Amino acid sequence: ISCSAADKTIVIGLAADSGCGKSTFMRRLTSVFGGAAEPPKGGNPDSNTLISDTTTVICLDDYHSLDRTGRKEKGVTALDPRANDFDLMYEQVKAIKDGVAVDKPIYNHVSGLLDPPELIKPPKILVIEGLHPMYDSRVRDLLDFSIYLDISNEVKFAWKIQRDMAERGHSLESIKASIEARKPDFDAYIDPQKQYADAVIEVLPTQLIPDDNEGKVLRVRLIMKEGIKFFNPVYLFDEGSTISWVPCGRKLTCSYPGIKFTYGPDTYYGNEVSVLEMDGQFDRLDELIYVESHLSNISTKFYGEITQQMLKLSDFPGSNNGTGLFQTIVGLKIRDLYEQIIATRAAAPLEATKA
Ligand code: ADP
Ligand code: G6P
Repeated sequence: ISCSAADKTIVIGLAADSGCGKSTFMRRLTSVFGGAAEPPKGGNPDSNTLISDTTTVICLDDYHSLDRTGRKEKGVTALDPRANDFDLMYEQVKAIKDGVAVDKPIYNHVSGLLDPPELIKPPKILVIEGLHPMYDSRVRDLLDFSIYLDISNEVKFAWKIQRDMAERGHSLESIKASIEARKPDFDAYIDPQKQYADAVIEVLPTQLIPDDNEGKVLRVRLIMKEGIKFFNPVYLFDEGSTISWVPCGRKLTCSYPGIKFTYGPDTYYGNEVSVLEMDGQFDRLDELIYVESHLSNISTKFYGEITQQMLKLSDFPGSNNGTGLFQTIVGLKIRDLYEQIIATRAAAPLEATKA
């Protein structure tokens, strides 16, 4: 059974290392689409899938071909392509895109074993999130839009310490060791995927505080590829110009070290891009409306939608800085892309069948 071209599933790829904010981003995205994503009902309680009205998010760890013991025996990490089944990933993502339900394996993060599969029905939007959504060229070609979350080593370290030390009782030394051990495979197999992404969110230490090494205040860059169909990059004040803007003053409360936005054209891995950057953090989230009103091409449905989203999810990590702001903006751009694709198919059903 396959559905008509008009409601063919749209596939989005989200790549990042683990512990870099993918699930937080997914919760922001499904919120933009108007509903929280929940685990599938009645299935395996350890399922990694999240389902909402419009969107199904699957975790690519489910395509591990080697379980935890298998990886230990062979001496490969989860980041290594040899620990992952790209043939099956391709077949199943393609089937869903063609309107066919699949029995997807489940990687159990608690036991480290592969559990019996779960049925995934074709949603309106399928998000594949994980370590390798853009690694295999066949899978990559199935993506209608792709995002890479690029967390710099300094910031990754700060986040891991916060989570693994505070919440999981690991020592500073063991956290350092585990990051170091993953680094060669991360550099070889994960990081290179960013060249293929339509949007990259880069998270770096602030430049507003000299020699900052706390990793609390962040400089976040939204790198948007030019010339992507149905994706018009966001801009600040004047499209294509180079802008530097410190909005602190009468309309925005900024305590030390303040906030600085920059915007302009650039090249990224040989591609023309627009880059919007925010360094610093908001003191008062409701004042974000002042920043929002100066941005264009943000794909909102009403004035203040970004601010409303950010206020609604204010307890999520990154809500007071560029990570939350840019994740929200990318969510709005994906909604816009989805609506444009649907509208194009409705207007030209024959064209859509051929595509
Ligand atoms: P992933 O799904 O990639 O493993 P999560 O979204 O679960 O990542 O985030 C993992 C942890 O990283 C969070 O618990 C939080 O401590 C930290 N984190 C994620 N995003 C941010 C952010 N934007 N700002 C600060 N910390 C963050
Ligand atoms: C998942 C995560 C990896 C993590 C792995 C644990 O696959 O996506 O990032 O490294 O689990 O692997 P391990 O071999 O330590 O159980």
